[in-house]
Amino acid sequence: MNQQKDFQEKLQKNFQCSAFGEKKLVFGEGAQMPILMMIGEAPGGDEEKQGKPFVGKAGKNLSAFLEVIGLKRDEIYISNVVKLRPTKSSPKTGKEVNRPPSKDEIAFFLPYLMDEIQLIAPKMIVTLGNVPLKAVSGDNSMNIGDVHGKPYTLTDGRILFPLYHPAAIIYNRALTQVYQEDLVTLKDFLVTL
Ligand code: URA
Repeated sequence: MNQQKDFQEKLQKNFQCSAFGEKKLVFGEGAQMPILMMIGEAPGGDEEKQGKPFVGKAGKNLSAFLEVIGLKRDEIYISNVVKLRPTKSSPKTGKEVNRPPSKDEIAFFLPYLMDEIQLIAPKMIVTLGNVPLKAVSGDNSMNIGDVHGKPYTLTDGRILFPLYHPAAIIYNRALTQVYQEDLVTLKDFLVTL
C-alpha cells in the first residue's frame, strides 16, 4: 500500500510540473496482486468528479461486465492509461466535452502505467479498446478488431486479454454479440489461471 502511495505522490508531483498539470488526476484503485487488472482509455466527467475510474455510466457497464465473468469490483484493480479527463470545448454548446486522449497525453502517462502494472502485479491484464491495447503491448500496429477475445502473452510473461471498449458497443450495436462471446471466453480463461 505504501508503494502505491509513493507511486501516486511521484505521479502527482511530476504531473503538476507537466503541460497538463492544471487537471485533476484520477488514479487506479482496487486489489493488489489481483487475478485481473482492467485498463481503460481515460476518465470521463463522472470519474473526474468522483476521483475514481469507471463510475457513472461506465461503472454500470463495468458491473454488467463483472457479473458475466463472476468477479466483484473489489476483487480486481481498475485503471486507465491516461489519468486526466481529456476534454475539448464543444463547437455547438461551448461546454467541455470528452475527446480521445492525445499522443502527448498517452506518452506522458505510459511509463507510469508500466510502473503501476509492476506494482499491482496482476495475473492478467484486460484492456478495453485500442488505446490501452497499444499502450500495454507496446505494439502500435495491433488493432482491437483483429485481436479481441484472444489471450496474448506479453514480454514479461503476463497475459493480456484485449476487449473492445464498452463505448464501441454503444456506437456499433453489431459488436454486442461479439463482445458477449469475448466475455464468455474470458470467463472460461480465468478458470485456467
Ligand atoms: N471511464 C473510465 O474510467 N475509463 C474509460 O475508458 C471510460 C470510462
